[in-house]
Amino acid sequence: MKVLIAFSVLVTCGLATTSQSGQECLCTSDQSCWPSASEFSQLQTQVSQPLIYPLPTASACYPTSDPSGNCTTVIDNWTDGNWRSSMPGSMEAPNWETFMFKNGTIEACYLNTTITDTCGQGRVPVIGVDARSVADIQAGVNFAVKHNLKLVVKNTGHDFLGRSAARGSFVVWTHNMKNITYDPTFVPQGGPANETYDAVTLSAGVQWHEAYDAVNQYGRIMVGAISDGGSVGAAGGWLAGGGHSILSPTYGLGVDNAIEISVILSTGEYLTVNNYQNPDLFWALRGGGGGTYGIVTSVTYRTYPSVPIQFYLFQAN
Ligand SMILES: *[C@@H]1O[C@H](CO)[C@@H](O)[C@H](O)[C@H]1NC(C)=O
Ligand SMILES: *[C@@H]1O[C@H](CO)[C@@H](O)[C@H](O)[C@H]1NC(C)=O
Ligand SMILES: *[C@@H]1O[C@H](CO)[C@@H](O)[C@H](O)[C@H]1NC(C)=O
Ligand SMILES: *[C@@H]1O[C@H](CO)[C@@H](O)[C@H](O)[C@H]1NC(C)=O
Ligand SMILES: *[C@@H]1O[C@H](CO)[C@@H](O)[C@H](O)[C@H]1NC(C)=O
Ligand SMILES: *[C@@H]1O[C@H](CO)[C@@H](O)[C@H](O)[C@H]1NC(C)=O
Repeated sequence: MKVLIAFSVLVTCGLATTSQSGQECLCTSDQSCWPSASEFSQLQTQVSQPLIYPLPTASACYPTSDPSGNCTTVIDNWTDGNWRSSMPGSMEAPNWETFMFKNGTIEACYLNTTITDTCGQGRVPVIGVDARSVADIQAGVNFAVKHNLKLVVKNTGHDFLGRSAARGSFVVWTHNMKNITYDPTFVPQGGPANETYDAVTLSAGVQWHEAYDAVNQYGRIMVGAISDGGSVGAAGGWLAGGGHSILSPTYGLGVDNAIEISVILSTGEYLTVNNYQNPDLFWALRGGGGGTYGIVTSVTYRTYPSVPIQFYLFQAN
């Protein structure tokens, strides 16, 4: 039986927005303001990985006469959240990969190849950074700010408001930032030495199945999300959206369990925020503002002693 479980809004959205008049004010790839190849080469020298050129999920099935990849794999894995989140251009909900022009024409890359016979880029970002470190993200943010680019942040792509994608955008992909550090006597930076927490620090790309497995080794559990395969991101938009959990009636929301957050601001500045350092930003980051304030690079959460849990799911269509 296939069960799709309701989980919270995910993934830090882009720092980019539209202006108050509703007109797009940021540069996209179809405009002359878009950086030249040599400017992107310059960015390439500042990041640890090759720049990425995300493609829609079904792109391997095209061109239909001579598919670029294994379409059987695409068909077999189409609803697998972990498979989707492993690709920078793949969104959890395929509608966010499609774009509708003002005249009503839809540009998409359908799994059903008979609909258009071409794979349209739609809303999938066109280029970006495969971030592995704080420095990679800083380089991406500084580049986007310098060129006034439409920037999106994608971790898993689970965002049900579509903020992990934007047509003609530049993406900072945090999926491969997988560090997990467990510390049973964690002290927040700037806090008193006797204020300790049994805590775990998760980098931005860690997904819940990885976080649960990591703390389980120490007999601990966490207030986190559930989904088929555990593919929801643990230190991204789930937290930015409040962080609902089956453990919330007992231990509170995700935001109540975050002790410290590291974040890169639009200035490129890297800050560690908690109740002792930059408490206003720490408060804001736990206020449901999505990616408004910056790109979160890691989150430190409380852990709790492991207990047996039974839960029941009800689904209505
Ligand atoms: C395509 O992938 C499927 C499973 O995902 C596999 O069985 C098949 O051998 C692959 N085909 C090619 C040509 O690699
Ligand atoms: C895709 O699906 C096939 C068949 O279900 C499975 O064997 C394979 O591991 C999946 N590939 C990925 C990358 O998840
Ligand atoms: C709608 O607009 C797009 C973008 O300008 C264009 O490519 C497409 O041909 C138009 N479709 C129709 C039916 O006019
Ligand atoms: C694929 O699209 C074609 C054309 O719209 C439609 O006739 C067909 O039923 C679709 N196939 C599937 C499996 O949805
Ligand atoms: C991940 O951990 C390694 C080893 O401790 C460290 O060198 C690296 O800087 C960490 N990366 C991030 C993004 O925190
Ligand atoms: C930490 O030490 C201070 C000063 O001795 C004390 O006032 C405070 O209650 C202690 N806090 C904890 C959590 O033990």
